[in-house]
Amino acid sequence: MDRIFSGIQPTGNLHLGNYLGAVQNWVKLQSSYECIYCIVDMHAITTFQKPETLIGNILEVASILIASGIDINNSILFNQSRVAMHAELAWIFNCTAKIGWLNRMTQFKDKAGKNREKASAGLYVYPNLMAADILAYKATHVPVGDDQKQHLELTRDIATSFNDNYKTDFFPLVEPLILGEATRVMNLRDGSKKMSKSDESDFSRINITDSAEKISAKIKKAKTDSLPVPDSSSELSNRLEAKNLIGIFAALRGISLQDIIKDYGGGSFSVLKDDLTECIIEELQPVGKEIKELLNNKDELDKILKDGAERAKEISRPVVNEVKNIVGFLT
Ligand code: TYM
Repeated sequence: MDRIFSGIQPTGNLHLGNYLGAVQNWVKLQSSYECIYCIVDMHAITTFQKPETLIGNILEVASILIASGIDINNSILFNQSRVAMHAELAWIFNCTAKIGWLNRMTQFKDKAGKNREKASAGLYVYPNLMAADILAYKATHVPVGDDQKQHLELTRDIATSFNDNYKTDFFPLVEPLILGEATRVMNLRDGSKKMSKSDESDFSRINITDSAEKISAKIKKAKTDSLPVPDSSSELSNRLEAKNLIGIFAALRGISLQDIIKDYGGGSFSVLKDDLTECIIEELQPVGKEIKELLNNKDELDKILKDGAERAKEISRPVVNEVKNIVGFLT
């Protein structure tokens, strides 16, 4: 069976973008792939995290993933720092990837901003750790949102370069799986920006744990334009906010943008917004309830992640040992 690996950062406020771009697809893929899902705490500390907040966030993300339908009896769910193979392979990839490749990473440029000199070295080499996450399991497919595409291209470059340098075909070339109608969910207040955990306005995103009242208020306030809902897909390219709401709606219902346009095109945004609100609440409310229950037993969540880490080690240890042999280390 082909093997899936994907990861998510425990940096708080998982939102509808994470849910539609990643989590919902992770859940669906479980029936046709062997799946390994990782809470990437080592990525999280590339920007400073308060220790007590980080621990809480790791457990919260675990609860969100389980409540959303990650089946811990079949899929592997764990936190990255418990499995040392990620860090070991990342070092080898630090020595494989070229500085020129890392300089092209747009996410580093966005996150470091003007303060590049003050960004951590970890933030700079973060895509190498991401490649190590995937290749320590020789995963073949990686479900992600659109924003991770460039990092996956780098993963392929690293695998190719390693294979060429050591005259081997050891690493597979991973395939990104960017699925559904909401691969890049946008900020509710500004359709040109991605929905993100770090935006200062909470009204820019729907958090997975938001109450029904909050969801309703946020969708009501979501920016639109003064025209009716677009009635053809050609209109979407210059009506970013409308496109975003239609995309979210389509992804939640599991249908195409065109189907939503057929039902709502030419009508008023308030009708679309009311139905969209109901649809989001219907999807997220049961998840929110289950999250609360799971968080009542943090020891159990910790145990689930620990067990997952043991299973992850069984797969990644022989892979990384083999890499060390290929490189010429004594093992
Ligand atoms: P992270 O934690 O930023 O996001 C987790 C997943 O959510 C997707 N996503 C979105 N999808 C649609 N619209 C949005 N606005 C949106 N925001 C986030 C992301 O594409 C991602 O799939 N580097 C990764 C984590 C990672 C990883 C890996 C992923 C580490 N190692 C190995 C895959 C394989 C990250 O920071 O994702």
